[in-house]
Amino acid sequence: MLTKELAAALIGAALGCATTAAVAGDIAISAQIPYDVTIPPNADSATVQKAYNVFSWNLFIAANWVASPTMRGEADTSKPFSGSGARVWETYKDTSEVFTTPPTRPTSWNQWSEAVPAYCPADAKADQGQRTAVLSEIGKQDPVIDGTVQPMSGKLGYLVDQNGERVWIDVRMNKPAFDFIYDNKYYDANVQNAAQKTLLFPNSGDNATRTVGPINVKPAWKVMGKGDDPSTFYTRDAYLVDAPAQKCRKVQVGLVAFHYTVKTTSAKQWIWGTFEHKSNAPSCAPWDYDNPKATCRIDWKQSRYSFADPNCPDCAMNALPTPATAQKPVQVVRIIPIPPEVQALNQEAAALLKGTVWENYELLNTQFPADPSQLYGNPWPTALANAALETYNQGTTPWDQTSSCLGCHFLAPTTAQPYGNYFADFVFQFAHAKPFPPQ
Ligand code: HEC
Repeated sequence: MLTKELAAALIGAALGCATTAAVAGDIAISAQIPYDVTIPPNADSATVQKAYNVFSWNLFIAANWVASPTMRGEADTSKPFSGSGARVWETYKDTSEVFTTPPTRPTSWNQWSEAVPAYCPADAKADQGQRTAVLSEIGKQDPVIDGTVQPMSGKLGYLVDQNGERVWIDVRMNKPAFDFIYDNKYYDANVQNAAQKTLLFPNSGDNATRTVGPINVKPAWKVMGKGDDPSTFYTRDAYLVDAPAQKCRKVQVGLVAFHYTVKTTSAKQWIWGTFEHKSNAPSCAPWDYDNPKATCRIDWKQSRYSFADPNCPDCAMNALPTPATAQKPVQVVRIIPIPPEVQALNQEAAALLKGTVWENYELLNTQFPADPSQLYGNPWPTALANAALETYNQGTTPWDQTSSCLGCHFLAPTTAQPYGNYFADFVFQFAHAKPFPPQ
């Protein structure tokens, strides 16, 4: 709801004041990462879902606040939300810093140690996290997936935009998540193996103690090129690492998608929120849960999309690239449309964020454990997918295998041998750990 207080908060932020306290239950322009969802007493299911969606927006806004230039993972509250510079989540610890190649103890939280190949220019190394991102394809042999291939889709499961450029993915964690791995030495596959147990992050996100829980983010970028309007994206300069050619290419990239997960007192199976840029792809409706391959009608709202061509109505939807079509644009269609009530909330958010690039981002929905007492949490909604991050798994495969955030992440194992025996608390990152040499 665009209340007077929130309008004032927006004006305050626009004028450059420090953060404004979040009004419980509403979207607020605040740099404070929300601790846990705030659910009113006796809430019905629509109210509960809305509380999670408001939480998602508040987390998105706080995580996209201007980052402190000195303290990783913290906001620069002397700057307004609309200020320029790297965002808070960009200063979270990168997977390549936590699970290093070759395996070494990670650097301490505030040190920058992202893997930057020697053939990249000096400023790629000197300026980590602040001006120039380094996005790479390193790690193709990993048991999970690399930074450009989508989950469970095989080696060609990357996304190609309308300009023939691939989408680039990043995975990062906040300090509470990093501390858990660091303190327990779970960055070493041998330690995971010796533990022979389920690895559980603390569910510390808590309103009463004002504690932020462990957070993982998985954002995706596209190269700003022909036909793109960079003024509508959150953009930054980035080096794209082409490992086979040993080249670093400097480009401008724009944020197209953003997954986050956070573990809280009320959601020990994590809260799963996902955002997209509104120009990514059209939706196809209606989506029939029991018959997901049924023909739906594409709602071509815009004349141009980053990942779909309105002039090609016969292009196959969400078709996995093959060696023959490897560089061809993928015709992306959102199979699980954004529910009307989430669209209404997005309009409230867009009004609050007006005048910033963030007004162009949409929440798709928030998945949460409807019954946290169950190991699996009985996730709701049952299916959720991001058109740019799960292009090939959206709503078309059984939800308990791949079309649900929680459903797919439930399969994440630790690296303990035999592989697959121990639950990794829904976090695939553990599988990037390599065994340290014997001491
Ligand atoms: C089909 C399986 C699948 C689905 C569905 C899926 N993911 Fe993931 N996700 C993965 C894999 C595999 C990784 C690991 C990627 C890597 O390490 O490079 C991952 C990584 C992540 C990460 C980084 C932390 C981690 O666990 O490694 C986040 C955050 C995340 N996903 C959120 C989501 C959200 C939110 C959704 C639902 C909208 C979702 N995922 C749907 C498979 C899936």
